[in-house]
Formats: sequence, C-alpha cells, structure tokens
Amino acid sequence: MKTIYPSALEHRERHQLLLSGVAPRPIALVTTQDKHGNVNVSPFSFFNAYSSRPPIVAIGPAISSISGKAKDTLTNILETGECTISVVTYSMVEQISLASCEYDAEINEFEKSGLTQRASSIVKPPCVAESPYSMECTLHQFIPLFENKGGNGRILLMEVQLFHVSDSVYSDNKIDPRKMDLAARMGYDWYCRAHGDALFEVKKPRWNGIGVDALPEYIRTSEFLTGAELAKLASVKEIPEKNHDFSTISENISGDSIDIELASGNPLSALYIALQTLPSVKNLTRIAKLFLHHNDIESAWQVLLLIKR
Ligand SMILES: Cc1cc2nc3c(=O)[nH]c(=O)nc-3n(C[C@H](O)[C@H](O)[C@H](O)COP(=O)(O)O)c2cc1C
Repeated sequence: MKTIYPSALEHRERHQLLLSGVAPRPIALVTTQDKHGNVNVSPFSFFNAYSSRPPIVAIGPAISSISGKAKDTLTNILETGECTISVVTYSMVEQISLASCEYDAEINEFEKSGLTQRASSIVKPPCVAESPYSMECTLHQFIPLFENKGGNGRILLMEVQLFHVSDSVYSDNKIDPRKMDLAARMGYDWYCRAHGDALFEVKKPRWNGIGVDALPEYIRTSEFLTGAELAKLASVKEIPEKNHDFSTISENISGDSIDIELASGNPLSALYIALQTLPSVKNLTRIAKLFLHHNDIESAWQVLLLIKR
C-alpha cells in the first residue's frame, strides 16, 4: 500500500493521482457567453449535484495551468451569472475533447467541435442539441480556493432554473439510464461509458437491515459466501423463519444434475436434485448463491436454513 502526502508531489502528478481515484466523474458541458455575446462551450468533470431543493450543481473551472489565467467559463459566469450545463453521451466524447482545447475567448468552440447550439428559454447561453439532458442555471455562489496560481481550484455553485430532457431517454415519467449512454471521466486520458453490462440495479433496503454482524455464525463465516452475498443476506429486517414447505419441493420440478442446473441458472431444479440425497453444505451454499444472484433473498435464506437442521 502506497502512502502519499499531496505536498510530496508535483502539481501534475497530484492532479492525476486525485483524478484517478475520484472517478468516474460526470462531465458537465458548460455553455457561457461573455458580456459581448461571444459563446463558449467547454467540458468540466469537477462537476456534481449537491442539493435538490432547490437544485444546485457545482462545477470547478481551475485557474489554467497553461496560461495561469482564469478559464473563459469562469470569467463569463462571474460576468453574467449564467450558464447552461449539458450532460455528455458516449457519441459526444471526441467533440467535447476537441472543445476542451484552450481557444481564445472570442472563438466559439461550437464551431470548432461541430456541436450544435439549441436556444435556451431563460438564460442567454444556448444548450447543446446533441445532449439528451440540459440545465439552464444561474450563479448561486462563487467559492475561490487559494490564490491565483495555475491549477488552483474555483468552485461555482449554480442553481438549476430549468431542465430539458429528451423524449428519447424518457419513459414511464422517468429517465431510463440504459437510454442515456453517458460518458464519464477517469484519470489521465481515460473515460468510461455507462452502458450495457456496466449498468446494474441494487435495491436499497427499505428498512434497517440486520447487518452482517447479526448473521448466524455458520453463514457469516462461510468460506463460500462473498462480502457482497453476506450484505444481501444481512439486508433483511429479521432472520426469516424456516419454511418447512420449502424443503418438500414440488414433484413438478425435475433436473439433470446440480452442476448442470446451476450452470443453466436454475437454482430451484438444483435444489430439487440436492434434496434427493443428503445435500452437502457446499452444494446448498452454491444454490443459495444462485438465488442471491437472482436477487431472491428469501429463497437464499430458506436454502441456508436447511444447513442447520
Ligand atoms: C472531459 C474533460 C473534463 C475537464 N474537466 C475540467 C475541470 O473540471 N476543470 C477544469 O478546470 N478544466 C477541465 N477540463 C479542461 C477544460 O475543458 C479546458 O481547460 C477548457 O479549455 C476550458 O475552456 P474555457 O477557457 O473556454 O473555459 C476538462 C477537459 C476535459 C476534456
């Protein structure tokens, strides 16, 4: 394990060490205008949401370590109090990377990157038409961090005045994350994509789970169960009662072998075969693990309760 003091590092190394661990970060594509109306669009991954009543997001345009000057985005927001923030999808990444070049203030990065402006309703800066989700924002608070030195951070807390969400990502009155295809920033030049198998759901317990420490010892110390599986089992409100019907499993079920049924994702058939003989702890635990994998926590418990006869 490496132990690293920030002060022991050069600025670039410290920057990348921080950004490699605090990752993946969402990317704000921020559009601003200066007082003459020149449009600017740049990406910022020092970005997150911090309040929803009212909705407040923060972006962190640092003092440029190339020029030692404030970035145009910061100057424009301090001048006008406005911006729009559009989220970045996988198909936009090459364009936002190009827009991140430090062009002169009068250069419109929409033209450089080939991204498209879409007029806003409340604020002057336009939104980005390619993005499925944009926010029109006004400045809530400016927090300068340390003196004006290249790399020093600046925090802008922005209040969201209006959301725009594309119909293409919206179903049943909510955003479907599988349709967003968002990109996020890792350390160095790495990005990642919230897409396909990278997306998964974890149901938050609706009550205080019993906790891993309250699991029966033979489960808590099982050599076959992982930390994640123990946490799923420990999310129940109380340890379930043994359901005796569960071990007299229906004759309608049939199966080939425990291994085949487990490999084909059929824990109930595997259990039926296991119960034909005296099942081993290992086999019962394998079956419980498959129920857990299917998020059937009640059945996993019932199988594990069979271990203690
Ligand atoms: C994906 C991505 C994320 C970035 N995040 C930040 C950030 O959070 N803060 C920052 O100061 N610069 C960040 N940059 C660099 C700025 O986009 C870049 O300095 C840009 O030229 C600033 O433009 P401006 O001077 O027009 O505001 C990022 C660049 C990329 C490609």
